[in-house]
Amino acid sequence: MEFQQVIDTRQSVRSFNGKQVSEDVLREMVSAASAAPSWKNTQTSRYYCVFNPEKVNEFRETVLPEFNQNSTKGATAYVVTTYRKNISGFNKATGEADNEVGNGWGAYDLGLHDMLLCAKAVELGVDTLIMGLRDADVVADFCKIPEDEQVMSIIAVGYRTDSVTQKPPRKSVDDIAKFI
Ligand SMILES: Cc1cc2nc3c(=O)[nH]c(=O)nc-3n(C[C@H](O)[C@H](O)[C@H](O)COP(=O)(O)O)c2cc1C
Repeated sequence: MEFQQVIDTRQSVRSFNGKQVSEDVLREMVSAASAAPSWKNTQTSRYYCVFNPEKVNEFRETVLPEFNQNSTKGATAYVVTTYRKNISGFNKATGEADNEVGNGWGAYDLGLHDMLLCAKAVELGVDTLIMGLRDADVVADFCKIPEDEQVMSIIAVGYRTDSVTQKPPRKSVDDIAKFI
């Protein structure tokens, strides 16, 4: 698949058909994510892949607000994305932040990883919905996430139905970039 086609095809899907996503597909997505760059190659991104059907339903109902539950009813996996705190963007010897961004760099790295994960999903014919609205404490408890990790997004994974709408319009290049 051409890279431009991956860009054009990826969109947030909020209507999934219930077809099971395999562990192999999830592994390929995480493997693609791991190829992303990170601050001093610190690789602090972590993934918790919930795909056992019984666990998936329980996960959906306990960690997501109602509208995100409804959007992902037919999704058959959820990938919790986290990063290990106070490493990316921090001086290893002193433990001090290297600059004003602090743990923002861990979040930045995770975003780069997550984008590759979602792009790989497109190549594999799988759809995703990144969700920032979730109960982080319940997620951490459900997946037994250590306290030194920051829970960020949950990415629903599944196969789209035919009723998926157009992706929303974007600002123009001139709206978002200055060429100096
Ligand atoms: C960090 C982040 C958090 C998001 N949280 C939610 C969410 O909780 N629920 C939802 O339906 N969509 C969520 N989205 C999806 C955005 O609404 C979507 O990416 C945006 O409208 C652009 O549409 P597109 O992904 O189809 O291009 C989130 C996206 C990002 C990047």
